[in-house]
Amino acid sequence: MSITIKTPEEIEKMRIAGRLTAEVLDYIKPFVKPGVTTEELDKLCHDLMVNVQNSIPAPLNYAPPGHKPYPKSICTSINHQVCHGVPSKDKKLKNGDVVNLDITVIKDGWHGDSSRMFHVGEPGILARRLTEITYECMWKGIAAVRPGVHLGVVGAAIQKHAESNGYSVVREFCGHGIGRGFHEEPQVLHYGKADEGPTLEPGMTFTIEPMINAGRRDIRVLGDGWTVVTKDHSLSTQWEHTILVTEIGYEVLTLSAECPPPPAFITG
Ligand code: MF3
Ligand code: CO
Ligand code: CO
Repeated sequence: MSITIKTPEEIEKMRIAGRLTAEVLDYIKPFVKPGVTTEELDKLCHDLMVNVQNSIPAPLNYAPPGHKPYPKSICTSINHQVCHGVPSKDKKLKNGDVVNLDITVIKDGWHGDSSRMFHVGEPGILARRLTEITYECMWKGIAAVRPGVHLGVVGAAIQKHAESNGYSVVREFCGHGIGRGFHEEPQVLHYGKADEGPTLEPGMTFTIEPMINAGRRDIRVLGDGWTVVTKDHSLSTQWEHTILVTEIGYEVLTLSAECPPPPAFITG
């Protein structure tokens, strides 16, 4: 399969899926408090998707080649967990934790994928700074999107911002094309050279979802087969949006009222 170009009708369906994804993240925010378990957050999100939105939680039973089926409806990655943290009744959030909640909904056959960081109680100074720089990294990548440039502009912008702030970029996981499929071509690297990769065209849709570590970039996967952690146990944060390439630049499909505003370098 090559990179699919979405028609105007398909883009409208992706806008709907994207809006619902953002709505789940808005909904869950007030529940992310000390004492809540990640399994409780999973159930709240699952029930909203299935009972209210009539959408499907894409992670549930998702089984890419070489993986056992993912057992939950969302991903909850805490502190040194990089991504794909599996919700559990044994994981209770405590004051000072930083947690990424990653939501992917399927609506009418189309996917929306977005994640945000949440601070549990009062975050430490490092957690706050890493969260902020990672948010800027995502937006540096988004701002580089327009037709005619190589996809590599995204990763180059992200890597530059992360490393100039003393942080490292996870290499083993990347953003991805998205549409009827959860993970489509192309792979969206969060590092690399601006003149590499396919040329962007209007109608392409993909995610940008940098995972940035406070320490070294190396990761490993836990025995559950899913949860990814930093090898050195340093803090890791991630933000994710689903993006459409337009005639003049980009459109973010997973925005909502509650998501933090873009950094000043975007809004002027
Ligand atoms: N939502 C993740 C992404 O951004 C993928 C999660 S796959 C799962 O690509 F199976 F772990 F849910
Ligand atoms: Co994604
Ligand atoms: Co995601």
